Amino acid sequence: MIATTDATLALHGGPQAFPGAVGHPQPKIGAEEFMSIAERFGFSADTLARIQQAIADEAWGTGPNLARYATAYPPQTKGAAFEALAREKFGVSYALGVSSGSAALHCAFVAAGVGPGTEVIVPAVGFYATAGMVIAAKGVPIFCDVDESLAIDPTKIEQLITPRTVAIAPTHVMGSVCDLDPILAIARKHNLKVIEDCAQAPGGKYRGRPVGTLGDLGCFSISAYKIIGGGEGGLVITNEQRLWERANQFAEAGGLWRPDRFAPPRYAGELFNGLNYRMSELEAAVDVVQLGKLDTFVSGFHGVKMRILQQLDTYREITPQKLNDVDGDIGYLLRFFPESHALGAQIVSALNAEGIRCGMRGPQPRPDWHIYADMFPITLKVGTTPDDRPFDQPIYQERDGYVEYAKGQCPVADDLYNRNISIALNQWYAPADCDMIAAGINKVLAAYCTKDASATKWL
Ligand SMILES: Cc1ncc(COP(=O)(O)O)c(C=O)c1O
Repeated sequence: MIATTDATLALHGGPQAFPGAVGHPQPKIGAEEFMSIAERFGFSADTLARIQQAIADEAWGTGPNLARYATAYPPQTKGAAFEALAREKFGVSYALGVSSGSAALHCAFVAAGVGPGTEVIVPAVGFYATAGMVIAAKGVPIFCDVDESLAIDPTKIEQLITPRTVAIAPTHVMGSVCDLDPILAIARKHNLKVIEDCAQAPGGKYRGRPVGTLGDLGCFSISAYKIIGGGEGGLVITNEQRLWERANQFAEAGGLWRPDRFAPPRYAGELFNGLNYRMSELEAAVDVVQLGKLDTFVSGFHGVKMRILQQLDTYREITPQKLNDVDGDIGYLLRFFPESHALGAQIVSALNAEGIRCGMRGPQPRPDWHIYADMFPITLKVGTTPDDRPFDQPIYQERDGYVEYAKGQCPVADDLYNRNISIALNQWYAPADCDMIAAGINKVLAAYCTKDASATKWL
């Protein structure tokens, strides 16, 4: 037996140089940080004291990890729970939680093959992010006019299709749904992908099926202002494995989504450069609860809108917004078009005086990035650097691509968006509230318009 000394290597039986830290680890994220979250959300002093008490007794160890940074998404993460609920709720094979609705669109466009030299047809009314994320994916957005539903007009899509077109991205606008059947038929005929932007209408239905599940990919925002309403979150859903894998690779460039994270590609094209759009665990914790409430939110809004619409008389000078699917309409806005701005202004004043909050943009509106001509980050065609513009990439020009954006290109949108009166509804309205609102609308419309049973019906 060889004698050991302090100099003997631990490998040879000597004492360990560093048997363990003497310092005590502190959690990276501790009680204080959690309390600041609770304070941010305005819990009462009493509740804060109870949370403080509850966490005071906990052994935090190295503390919780709020990132969703774990290989292959172990099922215990809130992010995984959110995705599982999304798959169940929408009845799809794949769901990907991401950091925003914009991130969802960016991933979906990349997944669908949008890139330099390609075009995507987007609606003239919706939100800037749809066209913006086409550009982020290095493609070129082409605006298509809307119809009296304020959603993309399917009869105007085909004339915009070029050899460069790879996708159509209809937006389900403000709780109403697009007319998807003709859009899907056009896409099939021209071999285009359909990416549904459902940011403003999660839980809406078309012919009985949830929006987001009829196209190739469905994108949702879960920002605080949306129906599901979290903080900042997003969701992509699809039934196609390869689309999900491409979206995931783009959202998760660290390769965390793959069973063997750093392994070479399992098939040609599996790996390409991407970003980090992961949904945080804190957001997912809220969103999984919020998504669970979606059906209740939607049935509340829908019931309120239907009860009001059923009671409205028809008027010669008023055209109600066209609803592409009455049963699938969520219903958080009640919209109609007066025949002139002057009439609209009178109706808006009178309704507001009755206590029915509403608005109309009118003839001289302030800019609004929900209509194409005002989407300056798109229409000015300015890149992040002067050379980073999809419009003048050589491949786009080789394919004879050229686009200018200007007011007047989508005349129906130009007219209807400024001339629509929108009444914001509340999912919590009692039947009596709906009846008072319906009576108030009839009272005002009867004062300024001609009641006419043969005028366009509300339903
Ligand atoms: C139609 C539409 N698409 C996309 C987005 C972007 O969502 P987010 O704000 O979560 O990035 C929005 C948000 O307003 C939207 O209304």
